[in-house]
Amino acid sequence: MKDALDFIKARRSVRKYTPMPVPQKLLDRVVEAGLYAPTGHNQQSVIILKITDEDAVRKLGAVNGEIFRKINGGEGMQDAFYGAPVVLCVLSPKDNKTEIWDGASVLSYMALEASSLGLGSCWIHRGREQFETEYGRSLLVKAGIDPDRYEGVDSLVIGWPAATPTVPARKPNRLFSL
Ligand SMILES: Cc1cc2nc3c(=O)[nH]c(=O)nc-3n(C[C@H](O)[C@H](O)[C@H](O)COP(=O)(O)O)c2cc1C
Repeated sequence: MKDALDFIKARRSVRKYTPMPVPQKLLDRVVEAGLYAPTGHNQQSVIILKITDEDAVRKLGAVNGEIFRKINGGEGMQDAFYGAPVVLCVLSPKDNKTEIWDGASVLSYMALEASSLGLGSCWIHRGREQFETEYGRSLLVKAGIDPDRYEGVDSLVIGWPAATPTVPARKPNRLFSL
């Protein structure tokens, strides 16, 4: 019998996807897992913007890549979403005092559920910056989210893995006991 640890160990950051679409039913389960993630004071104030529109996913991936290049320099990351067909963006009200922790909780739960369904995913940073851009703000407005009230935390790209990444070794001496 598989338990949660098996799925935790099986989850890997996937950075190469097939163009095959992800069925809505599976995406619904991934999102549901995020909605069941714990949040500070059970506020449940973080929200998820699911983007499956191909043009929007690619454009936001390019915007995120541009931010990456501005921060880190270099040529890489033209598409920071690695060609994935779906991106689940986690956002929080700006006045949420546990925004980062709540967002990380939601992202982790969604990544684990995706893994349990055989889907690949990758956590993508620069979630706040991507929704501060004109294009990011326009997506929020289009989806009915107030860009002055909400800010991005981070995102999770989802798709069918085109390559199986190896498991990075665990660093030793990370447990202390009393
Ligand atoms: C806060 C955070 C930000 C991350 N941002 C990115 C990112 O922008 N791009 C990316 O390819 N991976 C990103 N990752 C994925 C990590 O690089 C990945 O989890 C790590 O290398 C370990 O690999 P694994 O997920 O397969 O265990 C991020 C992970 C976390 C937790």
